[in-house]
Amino acid sequence: TGLHSLFVTAGKLYFGTATEINNLDDPTYQNILSNPLEFGQQTPENSQKWGLIQPNPGGFSFNSPDRIADLSNSYGHLLRCHTLTWHSQLPPFVSTTAWTPDMLRQLITTHITAVVSHFGAACYAWDVVNEALNENGTLRNSVFFEVLGEGYIAHSFRVAAEVAPPQMKLYYNDFNLETAPEKQTAAVELVKSLQAQGVRIDGVGLQAHFTVGQTPSLKSLIATLKRFTELGVDVAWTELDVAHEDVENASELAVEQQAKDYVAAVRACVEVERCVGVTVWQFTDRYSWVPGTFPGKGGACLWTDEYQRKPAYWAVKGFLEGW
Ligand code: G3I
Repeated sequence: TGLHSLFVTAGKLYFGTATEINNLDDPTYQNILSNPLEFGQQTPENSQKWGLIQPNPGGFSFNSPDRIADLSNSYGHLLRCHTLTWHSQLPPFVSTTAWTPDMLRQLITTHITAVVSHFGAACYAWDVVNEALNENGTLRNSVFFEVLGEGYIAHSFRVAAEVAPPQMKLYYNDFNLETAPEKQTAAVELVKSLQAQGVRIDGVGLQAHFTVGQTPSLKSLIATLKRFTELGVDVAWTELDVAHEDVENASELAVEQQAKDYVAAVRACVEVERCVGVTVWQFTDRYSWVPGTFPGKGGACLWTDEYQRKPAYWAVKGFLEGW
């Protein structure tokens, strides 16, 4: 057994991971990723983002994400696609042009139409809009918000729905929805507002970038997921990792706590009916984004940088075996 097979037995759709093309030529990595017992889903960590997929106006670059999609398909994995309208990793032509509202609306239409049609049914789900909210629940300032106001969100979902196959899941995805109460409430209101406008939204992705010992309790995680599923949408942990604040000096207690935090997240998904799956944001510390962004922080994944399974891995596995 492995994480994915046990998760499926627990009634869930997938246990997956973020991957990227620079991981393709690492045989040890691919050995674990391709194990159908461990993983059943992939998310391209960067290559479908705007700056990489349409770096110049009308110049689409599908080579790298196609390789991930082919790999995912050959491993029999579901592909969560990531992401369409996001303020970050934008190419200069998008962030620096003095757009009129009509021009920017058209640009979003062109981008989403081209990208969603290109991958078609290869994507199980798309993160249509990513990280639109601030921690205090207001909308984040971005080129999209400045020019179009909050209407850019509904517009993005409408365009995606026009080209998406009916079975594809259209998600709103964000971080700290688990820990920032005002942001969580704003995301709930966002879903309601889209629904009230007749705009299709099928799921909310909660990124679940946690820190050891600061991960919300099981009860709180379940309550958070249920706030969204009560609106009639699916939920998923889309980018789960649990980082040590000071990885060099992580105590044995911190290692145990990390295992508990991982189990709480996985268990919350098991306990909430419409939580469809869990994606870890890389499964090995070797490729984790955390140390590069937060120096000193790290050790956030289930496998070490030398591909040893950590106590957190065994704890999650043990929990699922006993469920
Ligand atoms: O590809 C270039 C390379 O050519 C260059 O030499 C190198 C020098 O810095 O940079 C490389 O690009 C990096 C890219 O990852 C690919 O490795 C960027 O600098 C780096 O900023 C980028 O970081 C990514 C980050 O998103 C960008 O915002 C992380 O890998 C990725 O894990 C992270 O993922 C995000 C999710 O998409 C959304 N939620 C939060 C999550 C973590 O930040």
